[in-house]
Amino acid sequence: MAGPKKENPMNHFLDIHKTDPAALRAMIETAGQIKRARADRPKGAPDDDQPLAGRMVALIFEKPSTRTRVSFDVGVRQMGGQSMVLSGSDMQLGHGETIADTARVLSRYVDLIMIRTFDESVLHEMAEYADVPVINGLTDRTHPCQIMADVLTYEEHRGPIKGKKVVWAGDGNNVCASFLHAAGQFGFDLTFTGPAQLDPEEEFVGLARKAGSTVVIERDAARAVEGADLVVADTWVSMHDSQSSKERRHNMLRPYQVNAELMAKARPDALFMHCLPAHREEEVTSEVMDGPHSVIWDEAENRLHAQKAVMRWCLGV
Ligand code: CP
Repeated sequence: MAGPKKENPMNHFLDIHKTDPAALRAMIETAGQIKRARADRPKGAPDDDQPLAGRMVALIFEKPSTRTRVSFDVGVRQMGGQSMVLSGSDMQLGHGETIADTARVLSRYVDLIMIRTFDESVLHEMAEYADVPVINGLTDRTHPCQIMADVLTYEEHRGPIKGKKVVWAGDGNNVCASFLHAAGQFGFDLTFTGPAQLDPEEEFVGLARKAGSTVVIERDAARAVEGADLVVADTWVSMHDSQSSKERRHNMLRPYQVNAELMAKARPDALFMHCLPAHREEEVTSEVMDGPHSVIWDEAENRLHAQKAVMRWCLGV
C-alpha cells in the first residue's frame, strides 16, 4: 500500500507533452542565455548567479549513464547547488522499499530529484509522492531532457525549429517518443523511417498529429530523408532491449543506417543528431558522425545548458 496521494501542483518535468508549450519555449530561451553567459568564462567556473545555492539535488540512476549523470552533476554545481549521485541498486529502493516511501523520505533531505529508471510507473509514483519536483532522466518509454537539448541545438544552428522536417531513422524507441512529443509542442513535423516491427507507439504518433504536426511513416529511408532539415539516429539496441534480440534487430535496421549516401538526399544544410552513445558503423557511419552535417558534440554539451534551465523551472529560481 502506497498510502494516500497528495495534491501535487509542483513543476515536475516528466514528459514534454505534459509540459506547457510556453514553459518549454521559456526553458529553451533560458538555456540559450545560460550558454551564452558562460561562453567567455573559464571551463568549470560557477555561473555568475547561483540560483541553486543552498539546494541539494538527488540524481538517481537505475541504468548506466555518462551524459545525463555528468551534465546534471556539473549543472547543479555550476549553479551553486550540491548533488548526490545515487545508484538504484545501492539504495533500499532496489531491495524492496516502496517508491512512495523512498519519495517521501528523499523529500525530507533534498530539494529536487532526477531519476533514470526502467518502467515509467516508477517515475510517476516518485512524482506523486515526493514533496519536491521530480525530473525524468530517461525511462524505457521517454527521454525528455535529451530532446530539450536537441531543440536548443537545432535552433542555435538553424533558427526556429517550428515547421521544419525532422527524420527519425531506425528504432521508434524512447528518444523517438520524446521527439514525437516535442513535434506537437514545438510545431515541427516528423517522419519516421524504420521497420514496421519497431514503429513508435501509436499513442504518441496520435498525440503529435492531434497537436497539429504532420507525422509520416515511410519504410523507404531514401524517400523519407528527402527535404529533411534534421536527420536523427539512435542505437539499434537500447538499454532495456534484450541482448538476445541484437542480431534480429540489426538485420531489420541495417537498411536504415545513416550514411553519407543517405544524408546526401536530405537538404544541403540538413543537420545530423544522435543522443549518444553511438555505435559507429552500425546506426551511423563515422563519415556522418564526424562530417559537416553533424552537430553531435554541441548536442551533448547542450544537455548541460538545457537541464540547467529545466532545473531552474522546476524550482522556480
Ligand atoms: N544520451 C544520453 O542520455 O546519454 P547517457 O545514457 O550517457 O546519459
